[in-house]
Amino acid sequence: MTEEKIRPHIRSKIFGKKIFYQEKIDSTNSKAKELLRDGGANGTVVIAGEQSAGRGRMNRRWLSEPKKNLTFSVIFRADIPPEKIGLISIYAGLSVSEALKEIYPEMNFVCKWPNDIQINGKKICGILSESAFESNSFLGAVIGVGLNVNQKSFPGELDGRATSLSLLAGGEQDLFGILGGLLGRMEYNYDFIRSGDYSSIIGRFTKNSAMFGREVEIENGGKTVRGTARRLDDDGSLIVSTGAGEQRIIAGELRSCY
Ligand code: BTN
Repeated sequence: MTEEKIRPHIRSKIFGKKIFYQEKIDSTNSKAKELLRDGGANGTVVIAGEQSAGRGRMNRRWLSEPKKNLTFSVIFRADIPPEKIGLISIYAGLSVSEALKEIYPEMNFVCKWPNDIQINGKKICGILSESAFESNSFLGAVIGVGLNVNQKSFPGELDGRATSLSLLAGGEQDLFGILGGLLGRMEYNYDFIRSGDYSSIIGRFTKNSAMFGREVEIENGGKTVRGTARRLDDDGSLIVSTGAGEQRIIAGELRSCY
């Protein structure tokens, strides 16, 4: 059983306490959302060897070679004010980047707003955070992580734009050991969210980013904003200075960073 192979790598107490592994699933985010609505516990992990309908941000598909990479989702429950919900993405990106830096201290992983992880200009991890509400109140979120671990080539439009830990470090990487590290860091940072210390999350995300002070282009709903990335606002939105003054970007796709 794969769950038994995963268990020895989990050192966190809440994140990964419950693990559901499936060889093949449509999307771990969809399954985790179902569990969230059915009362699934905080920190529950849904992990799959293969997704038939893996979802990315902006309605894109998430493609990942079966059994080579990490594709998992975590149920996230926290008493968080509605105006801070955008910080869940920042928290997730920060946690993954810090965990990777801990495992591969020689590598320069950077966070790309709102929550991609890049290295040498290539994407190594994508995160899809989805919130659920009941009668207008925040029920919780599902944090879906797609981390390229042992995939060696990236076909089609990903060619030249994506990379993996195995390509960077050489040789087969320990899939579930890395999962244990990611969940450990999520749990560590969860305490900052729980205690309302959002500025620590924002500060460390900013430190781990390469985009501040640089020219960026952000697209959302057919609208493009160009300017200089200045800082994160206290709700996780991005402040960009443009010819028309400062703009606050709540959501979007950071398309380029010069
Ligand atoms: C992105 O970069 O667009 C986000 C990609 C998120 C992919 C992960 S893989 C596990 C989880 N299940 C999904 O369907 N999507 C997320």
